[in-house]
Amino acid sequence: MKTLLLSAISLGLAAPIASASSGSATAVLHADQPGAVINRNLYGQFTEHLGHCIYGGIWVEPNSPIPNTRGIRNDVVAALREIRVPVVRWPGGCFAEEYHWRDGIGAPDQRPSMINTNWGGVVENNHFGTAEFMDFCEQVGCEPYICANLGSGTVQEASNWIEYMTSDANSPLANLRRANGRDKPWHLKYVAFGNENWGCGGTMRPEYYSDVYNRFNSFAKDYPGNKLYRVACGPNGDDYHWTEVLMRNIHAMYQPETPGMDGIALHNYTIPVGHWTNTDKGSATNFGEDQYALTLAGAGHMDELVSKHLAIMDRYDSKKKVALVVDEWGVWTDSEPGTNPGFLYQQNSLRDALLAALTLHVFQKHADRVSMANIAQMVNVLQSMILTDGPRLLLTPTYYVYDLFKVHQDATSLPIEVTSPDYAYGQTSFPAVSASASRDAAGKIHISLVNANPHDSIALSCKLDGLASRSVSGRILTAPAMNSINTFDAPHTVEPAAFNGATVSGDTLNLTLPAKSVVVLEL
Ligand code: AHR
Repeated sequence: MKTLLLSAISLGLAAPIASASSGSATAVLHADQPGAVINRNLYGQFTEHLGHCIYGGIWVEPNSPIPNTRGIRNDVVAALREIRVPVVRWPGGCFAEEYHWRDGIGAPDQRPSMINTNWGGVVENNHFGTAEFMDFCEQVGCEPYICANLGSGTVQEASNWIEYMTSDANSPLANLRRANGRDKPWHLKYVAFGNENWGCGGTMRPEYYSDVYNRFNSFAKDYPGNKLYRVACGPNGDDYHWTEVLMRNIHAMYQPETPGMDGIALHNYTIPVGHWTNTDKGSATNFGEDQYALTLAGAGHMDELVSKHLAIMDRYDSKKKVALVVDEWGVWTDSEPGTNPGFLYQQNSLRDALLAALTLHVFQKHADRVSMANIAQMVNVLQSMILTDGPRLLLTPTYYVYDLFKVHQDATSLPIEVTSPDYAYGQTSFPAVSASASRDAAGKIHISLVNANPHDSIALSCKLDGLASRSVSGRILTAPAMNSINTFDAPHTVEPAAFNGATVSGDTLNLTLPAKSVVVLEL
């Protein structure tokens, strides 16, 4: 049993400070010590032209029997609106580095096709392009986040795309947009130059990438009424050298007029078994407690990565102008048997929901510096919110974590210290209880809690400092087994229920957290 003392959150995943002695946990919430605002974009999503994320998952063509609005699935939009998706990244991923935006504008039947060399070698017909993505974002009510092609595209191509989308001038590119049916420019804030340029985006050194980034960045203009938030391709996991070079060659170059980049994009996936290059990463559904424990420990690894990259950034940027944008993360398992391995279609279990909750706690802990996170990927790929099968749709356990946690969006984080027993399996060990707290604009306080122990419930007593609360209500997400899933035939196995097990007495909150559960309380 370990005691953790963390600023905005107790993760249950950092280094222990002292031992405690029982199987119960204690906590102290400091409601009178407001921290950073939790950027709603921590709840962002990632979509790529990969497998059935776009085609079949989001886009079904306007003449489809599946109910749609201008080709975009109504059921998917409704589900995403429910969890208040704030921002969606597109068109990739590795696909972005071979995407040429002019192939995806104008009359769909006139658009050229291309081979999607990264993902299954399938022919991409470009029917889902700029206008369709922007329409999708407007239907969902989220911000678009465009990843421009730096690896195989040109500076002029990226510059022209931004003008096409955001200029209201009487210029050839703005007029081309008008000719294609969109009079007013779209609002576009978030733009990245390149994806994984250390890998599929060109196998570059950070020294070379940062020079190329500076060229792309210089010619990407802020047109009247549209200020871009510029994101550079960041490190692969623990490549701290990459972050160091970018801070030196991009951030420092532009001082003091402009930061040169507003964010650095970290990518890190949790692989249940071994390394992401493995062909056997572990099954999404058929796993034992060893893989359960290793997977959940991935949140602790994310905390370490974020902390170390931020420490490097701090040395060059004490005013914290540059943010960390974790624009690809999630669990990556083997594809479902019988599916195209190039489509990365995987099921999603209670275990994955617990990993999502623990990782969102990490991002909230670093809310002063992590400005966005985009789980990969939104529909039918990797750790999805939604799986579709023709006209059918199911909501995954991870979707329900986003539903429970949406109360944290734009709320002010509050420190909560947790003393928790460890959960241990084999060589893997970390405190079982993780917590994060925030106060929303209406003054309501929400505490999200995770009990990672798959066998034992844990009693929690939480002292409420600076808060006179008389009532508490809650919701819980759990399931019969750590690998419980929702299927098209049984879509309700893992879904939230009311949680009535918490009480407030004086300045103390008491509850028992069931094994392998996520609970969100409102005070
Ligand atoms: O999300 C799948 C792939 O993972 C993305 O295309 C790439 O950026 C990453 O390696």
